[in-house]
Amino acid sequence: MEKIKVKICQGTTCFVMGGDTIKAMADALAEKYGDKIEIVPVRCLETCHESDSFSKAPYVFVDEEVVSAADLEKVINVIESKLK
Ligand code: FES
Repeated sequence: MEKIKVKICQGTTCFVMGGDTIKAMADALAEKYGDKIEIVPVRCLETCHESDSFSKAPYVFVDEEVVSAADLEKVINVIESKLK
């Protein structure tokens, strides 16, 4: 089974909007899903540059799906839907 790619934005906007949450999220996801997912730190993918998007950081990308105002619960929900 192909791993689900969880790209966690490390860009400035996402860091400012949720840096501590993001780090804790990466650790929690790695512990929960092990080798079912691949966590990939990425630079700003410019989603935060789209109009009106600034306030929706931090962003996490689960495969091609964008999770805005990302927190652990939202990301887990997306991962779970992909594992079904
Ligand atoms: S800093 Fe995260 S999408 Fe731009």
